[in-house]
Amino acid sequence: MVDPMANSDAARPLHQGGVRTPLLEVKNLKMHFPVKGGVLMRAKKVCKAVDDVTLSIHPGETLGLVGESGCGKSTLGNCVVRLNNPTAGSVKFNGVELTQLSRKALKPYRKDIQMIFQDPAESLNARHSVREILEEPFILHDMGEAGFRRKKVHELLEKVGLPSSAADRFPFEFSGGQRQRIGIARAIALNPKLIICDEPVSALDVSVQSQVLNLLLDLQKSMKLSYLFIAHDLAVVKHISDRLAIMYLGKIVE
Ligand SMILES: Nc1ncnc2c1ncn2[C@@H]1O[C@H](COP(=O)(O)OP(=O)(O)OP(=O)(O)O)[C@@H](O)[C@H]1O
Ligand SMILES: [Mg+2]
Repeated sequence: MVDPMANSDAARPLHQGGVRTPLLEVKNLKMHFPVKGGVLMRAKKVCKAVDDVTLSIHPGETLGLVGESGCGKSTLGNCVVRLNNPTAGSVKFNGVELTQLSRKALKPYRKDIQMIFQDPAESLNARHSVREILEEPFILHDMGEAGFRRKKVHELLEKVGLPSSAADRFPFEFSGGQRQRIGIARAIALNPKLIICDEPVSALDVSVQSQVLNLLLDLQKSMKLSYLFIAHDLAVVKHISDRLAIMYLGKIVE
């Protein structure tokens, strides 16, 4: 089979003369959770959710990460955005080591690395209007006045194919696919460089899946985004990815 990416810069590993530094470089990453057991419930064993994972993503590229349930895909994504503090290993973003940074020092990088979750119903605050949800990232990062945020909310809704009137409604008033569009709008609000997509279409109806995937592809082009695209469905990942990594029991096996 001919690999369409084989000759492109994005797919060329550095050691073969690629000139670009990776946007994300994960090296020997480990995330071990203590597992309590035994009569006294003392930590006895460790669960090696992520065990010595090395991977890289170049600007504008999509790396697909596939593997069965429980193999550590989400934990890996969480380590990149530091929702989990990895046990060992290195996560470099644009050459900067993130694992050692304090919360404060990490804040500017949080703008550049965003996440889209599997279940938009859970990841969106049900008590907030869409406007509040989309304004929040700007408020958290002290960006712009009320007028600027207002404008941004409308821009974002347009980008993800929702009407302006969506701003004053609440997440439960939308369908699953529309809700995921809101999740995507929130993720792209601060012009990130990398988005960790953790099974973004798994919870959606098959007919809606391809619409959301196409939206992600369009946004990637227009905003020059890189994706770490996590899924358990190989067909979905193949459709969107430049390269594939297969994960099994905490390790990349292929
Ligand atoms: N906070 C935690 N504490 C202890 N164990 C954890 C924690 N988070 C994840 N694990 C364990 O790590 C392993 C990997 O979990 P993870 O959620 O990363 O899998 P996954 O590949 O994303 O699965 P799925 O496809 O079902 O989402 C599992 O065995 C899980 O029980
Ligand atoms: Mg998961």
